[in-house]
Amino acid sequence: MTKKIAVFASGNGSNFQVIAEQFPVAFLFSDKREAYVLERAENLGVTSYTFELKDFADKAAYETALVDLLNQNQIDLVVLAGYMKIVGPTLLSAYEGRIINIHPAYLPEFPGAHGIEDAWEAGVAESGVTVHYVDAGVDTGQIIKQVRVPRLPEDTLETFEARIHEAEYALYPEVLRESRVVKK
Ligand code: GRF
Repeated sequence: MTKKIAVFASGNGSNFQVIAEQFPVAFLFSDKREAYVLERAENLGVTSYTFELKDFADKAAYETALVDLLNQNQIDLVVLAGYMKIVGPTLLSAYEGRIINIHPAYLPEFPGAHGIEDAWEAGVAESGVTVHYVDAGVDTGQIIKQVRVPRLPEDTLETFEARIHEAEYALYPEVLRESRVVKK
């Protein structure tokens, strides 16, 4: 059976773009009205929705609206790609085991919002990229697939970061294919 995916993103959306170029995306959700990812969705002809936590009484009400959107669209897999919120109990209990995330480090090394910078500052010889299931923790869910990315002697933070992102653009589509999301 074809799996229907929705992508959640909060910012730039380069991972969303790579995914949407290869797979049918039922919709993009952004929790930031100003996010560049919304422009990308428009250019790619992908339906998008946006609302913000502050539009709601609390996070449970915000996530109830998200669960409604997912149910209405019969989404099988929620693909987080730079979605900068912790998934709360309302969304998690409705979709546990069906939410995946990409993290720009080799988990459990360097979890959190600054995986690339933290690895760089620690001076590691290699870091990586991880796709994992989302659970209640921060980047603690079961690992699906990960890849190592070396830090080269001539690297700057910028070139290191670019190599991490290139690895993301390869790994996320691989995981989606292996999760039986059918390509366009
Ligand atoms: C990526 O590095 C991803 O691993 C992290 O947030 C970043 C999102 O970048 N979770 P983009 O919005 O896809 O360009």
